[in-house]
Amino acid sequence: MAPITPAPQEHRFLAACRRQPVDCTPVWFMRQAGRYMSEYRALRARYSMLELCTPPELAAQVTLQPVAALGVDAAILFADILLPLVPMGIDLDFSAGEGPVIHNPVRSEDDVAALRPVDPAASLNNVLQAVRLVRRALGEKVPLIGFAGAPFTLASYLIEGGGSRQLARTRQMMYSRPALWQSLMEKLARVIAAYLSAQVDAGAQAVQLFDSWVGVLAPDDYRRFVLPYNQIIFSALAECGAPTIHFGTGTASLLGAMREAGGDVIGVDWTTPLDQAWDTLGAGIAVQGNLDPAALFAPPDELELRVRTILAQAAGRPGHIFNLGHGILPETPVDTVKRVVDMVHEVTSHGN
Ligand code: CP3
Repeated sequence: MAPITPAPQEHRFLAACRRQPVDCTPVWFMRQAGRYMSEYRALRARYSMLELCTPPELAAQVTLQPVAALGVDAAILFADILLPLVPMGIDLDFSAGEGPVIHNPVRSEDDVAALRPVDPAASLNNVLQAVRLVRRALGEKVPLIGFAGAPFTLASYLIEGGGSRQLARTRQMMYSRPALWQSLMEKLARVIAAYLSAQVDAGAQAVQLFDSWVGVLAPDDYRRFVLPYNQIIFSALAECGAPTIHFGTGTASLLGAMREAGGDVIGVDWTTPLDQAWDTLGAGIAVQGNLDPAALFAPPDELELRVRTILAQAAGRPGHIFNLGHGILPETPVDTVKRVVDMVHEVTSHGN
C-alpha cells in the first residue's frame, strides 16, 4: 500500500481563525511593528512614516522585524489604514506626535464627488508587491495578515481631517446628510473590498478590517449607517478563501451587529471580558483579544495574572487568537511582549 502522506499541517493561526484544533493558542499583536522596537526606530530615523510604507522592500523589512524578534504566530503587513485614501485624491501627512493630518477634508457633495475610484493593481501596487515579498521571505514559517480600515473609521479621518476623540463632525454628517453619508460610505466600501481582495490575490492569508473608532455609535445607528457597508466588504471576500477578522474598540454594545456584518473572527477590546464577549457573539465564531496594551507595563505577576485570566475566559473554546485589545503602545518593553508570546504558548500547549 502506498504510504499515506499527511496533509501539510495548517498553521495554528489560520486553524484558529477557522475554529479548528490547534497545538496551542496563536498570538500576534496589533501594531507589532512600530516605535517600541529599536530596529523600527533606526529606520524611522532615516525615513518618514509614508516613506517607510512606499518601497516594497522597506515595508517588507519592517513587517518581518517583529516576527524575528518576538516569535509571534502571524505577520501583519506594514502599511497604514489611510494609504488607500491617497490615490482617492487625499493629501495626507503623518505629523510627528499628532498622528495623521488630512489637508483636504471631505465635507461637501463636491468633496465626495471628487474622490476617485481606485484600481489597487495600478495605484497600490507597492503594497501588493510588499505582500509578495513578505510571503516569499516567510515561506511556511508564519502566515501573513493583510488589512484595511473600515469605511466608518476611514470616513471619520476624511471628515474630521485627522484623529478626533468625539467624531462630532462625522456623526453630524451621518444624521443630517444621510444621502451624502451613503455615497461616501459606498465609495469607501468599494475601494476597500477591491484592496483587500487584491491583497489576498497577492498572497495575504488572512485579512483584518479595522473599524477602530466605531464604538462612538449606538447600536441602531451602527446598523443603519455602518453595517451595510461592512457587509459589502465581507460578502466580497466570502469566496476568497482567506479568513477575515473584524475589529473595533468600544464595541460592547455592538458585538452582535458586528457579527452580522461579517468576519470569521471578531476582535474584542479589553473593556469587555472575553468570556462575556464570546457569550454575546454566540457559538460558531472565533474571537481575537483582548489584553489591555497598558498591562504590558505592569509588574510580571500582575501581567501573568491578566494573561492567564484571558486564557481561562477563552476556556479552550476553539477559535481563540490571543492579541491585545488595541495596538501596542510606543514605550512598551520588547522583552515583555516576547514574554507574553511564550506565556500564551506554554499555558495553552496540550503536552506538545
Ligand atoms: O499592526 C501593525 O504592526 C501593522 C501596521 C499598522 C500601522 N497602522 C502602522 C503605523 C496598522 C495595522 C495600522 C492601522 C491603523 N492606522 C489604524 C487602525 C488600528 C488602530 O490602531 O486602531 C489607525 C486608526 C491608523 C491611523 C494612524 N496611523 C494613526 C492614528 C497613527 C498615529 C498614531 C501613532 O501611533 O503615532 C498612525 C501612524 C502609524 N501607523 C504608525 C505606525 C507604526 C506610527 C508611525 C511612526 O511615527 O513611526
